Amino acid sequence: MRLGLNIDHIATLREARKIHEPDPLEAIFIAKNAGVDLITLHLREDRRHIHEDDVKSILKHAPLPINAECAIDPEITKILCHLRPFKATLVPERRAEITTEGGLNLKHPQLKDTIKAYADCGIEVALFIDPSVQNLELACALGVKVVELHTGKFSNVFNTLYTGFKHHKNRLDLPKDSATLKNMLEESLEELAQSTLAGQKMGLEVCAGHGLNYASVGLVARLEGLSELNIGHAIIARAVIVGLEQAIKSMQEAMHAR
Ligand code: PXP
Repeated sequence: MRLGLNIDHIATLREARKIHEPDPLEAIFIAKNAGVDLITLHLREDRRHIHEDDVKSILKHAPLPINAECAIDPEITKILCHLRPFKATLVPERRAEITTEGGLNLKHPQLKDTIKAYADCGIEVALFIDPSVQNLELACALGVKVVELHTGKFSNVFNTLYTGFKHHKNRLDLPKDSATLKNMLEESLEELAQSTLAGQKMGLEVCAGHGLNYASVGLVARLEGLSELNIGHAIIARAVIVGLEQAIKSMQEAMHAR
């Protein structure tokens, strides 16, 4: 199973100061050495993290294939068709959202044309979908060969049950009792398992991602037939913590260097 590292939040950190560091490209070289298989990034319409110049320089220099998440938006399609990432994963996008909230609307009026635009440029197209057999059938009918199953529902339930995480008040309305949450967790895992198998039977490559972390990833990674997981926030968040000691030591050395 491939690991795709989503590097958006390296750029989010940079945008907190709007300066040159941390540099997502530098991180990609480290990711390559660490055994990551591909890099995922999201050129959002509001450019809140990754910018067009990032995509340009990453595509020019990165030693790994690039999977560009993108909204169904003519301007973004034009930019990416010109820059030519290895894969374009179509995702829904809403300005006010904190992160991608659900799978694609597979009946979106511009979806067919957007898929065609990428395919005509030789870019592999993946659709980010909520896990269901019906969605897989729609994806197949649209002629794509790859889907990414949205693991957000599973992740949200898992985190509520096991991490004591309190959701942002506008984002989720999950039940509080653990018996109901446990049933929901089993259901969402079963949806992912069944969708993966159904997708495979239809000849699709099935990837998955969103909201996975160190505690929850094992439950998804062991599902039969998944070929790729895309993970961002948890890895970048951990990197900030486990890299802190070295970063402090390097600053102390710099302070005392004569
Ligand atoms: N896959 C898709 C399609 C996404 O939109 C995202 C978030 O940008 C991810 C995977 C990674 O999610 P996370 O940062 O929660 O690991």
